Amino acid sequence: MAARYDDLDWCEQHRLRLDYSYVMEEMIGTPVGVSRRELADAATRLAAIDARVRAEHQVGVLGFMDLPTAMTAAVPHLVETADRLAAAGDAHVVLGIGGSYLGARALFEALAHPYHNELPREERQGRPRLYFAGNGMDTDALRGLLDRLPTRPGAEPGGRFTINVISKSGETLETALAFRLLRQRAEQVWGAEAREAIVATTDAARGRLRDLATAAGYESFEIPDNVGGRYSVLTAVGLLPAVVVGIDIAELLAGARYMAGLCAASDPYLNPAYLLAILHTLMYRQKGRTISVFAAWSPRLEAVGLWYDQLLAESLGKDGIGPTPLTVVNSRELHSRGQQHQEGAHDKLITNVVVAEPDREHVVLPEVPGDADGLNYLAGRTLHAGQQAAIEATAFAYRRAGRPTLDITLPTVRPFTVGQLIYLLELTTVVDGWLLGVNPLDQPGVEAYKNFMFGLLERPDAPQFARYRAALTAAGLRPDEFRW
Ligand code: PA5
Repeated sequence: MAARYDDLDWCEQHRLRLDYSYVMEEMIGTPVGVSRRELADAATRLAAIDARVRAEHQVGVLGFMDLPTAMTAAVPHLVETADRLAAAGDAHVVLGIGGSYLGARALFEALAHPYHNELPREERQGRPRLYFAGNGMDTDALRGLLDRLPTRPGAEPGGRFTINVISKSGETLETALAFRLLRQRAEQVWGAEAREAIVATTDAARGRLRDLATAAGYESFEIPDNVGGRYSVLTAVGLLPAVVVGIDIAELLAGARYMAGLCAASDPYLNPAYLLAILHTLMYRQKGRTISVFAAWSPRLEAVGLWYDQLLAESLGKDGIGPTPLTVVNSRELHSRGQQHQEGAHDKLITNVVVAEPDREHVVLPEVPGDADGLNYLAGRTLHAGQQAAIEATAFAYRRAGRPTLDITLPTVRPFTVGQLIYLLELTTVVDGWLLGVNPLDQPGVEAYKNFMFGLLERPDAPQFARYRAALTAAGLRPDEFRW
């Protein structure tokens, strides 16, 4: 049976829109606005970048570009495993950190019911509650989760909790510690049968998690070698947790494929990733916009913003440069950060991520006798109309103050549009990196704290950790003089 996204008209109706009027000089003035000449000059640099995208994709460096098509073949298997896990347990715990966490959380928050975990099982269509752990080492957070999980075997269907441990390296301490503790709980409760409740997502061959999964006989999924953690949301890393809670991952991948098609254009004015990257780079390099604000106009998109924070920070924050990402949710943050964004330092490019139509039925404001709250002037209008007025008013207020904003509009929040957004931001970030002259695919800085942490914890399996410990001890920790 043909899916909706096989219909090109439907796809076009659900295409993301990009509006860059309010970064242009003729709308926001000089010196911050981009002139048509600046845009055209910057666009000429894209021919070389386009050739590089094609060449590096060809040799397999940009593995994330293959996922929308490649992972479509894996959907039936992911669905089968997800159904098995959903039948086994009413709580599903996803363990992972960074790129092994934020994508799955972004999909869950954007595409599941906003109160998924609070719904009764029937209203969740039999899908489990979803919890995230292994993304820190806070005792209260982990204890709090353990308090929620069964301590005795339950006879009722779905009485188990299930675990998906995700780590590309298979070595990450935060995730490994949480896995040890949750695995122990599962084994205490169900003995050898716990094996059925655990799946692992990791490298195909390397790392302790791969060895452990093989030895224990856990079902496992692979993260391709050429897909870095922060680019891995469209592998099993993001797809399996999503399908466990019932998200349509075939549609998600179709959305990403559709955007990949749009981003195949060489002309930067036709290719939204190239256009965004040009504007980002002009704003950063020439207009002093060193802070990149992801302004989500729906709380459902907040975690997409947090996912993008990592994508941008790890891809571009190196060699002493790179914009600083910041996620806000509006209109909530208009009442906290709004003052600064309107009148503070001129260092921000704000990208509004806007939802054109809600997924659910409109809320129409009722007329109330007496009008005690003075809101009858809005009676008969929708809540969404209020939201649209806030979006336009904010953008205009920023425009008048010479504060540049870009708008990315999702026709509605659904797998097809979120898939487009993910692919668009991934490719844009790679191009951002190349335009800035940094490698958007590595993250050498992430290792520094780990080396000193393993030194402090006296990790025994590699001599380098003793050297880090020695360096730290020789430097001396914090002197008493500066304590209060
Ligand atoms: O993007 C990255 O590579 C990192 O943020 C990793 O995703 C993060 O450090 C977790 O690593 P791993 O998946 O190896 O546990």
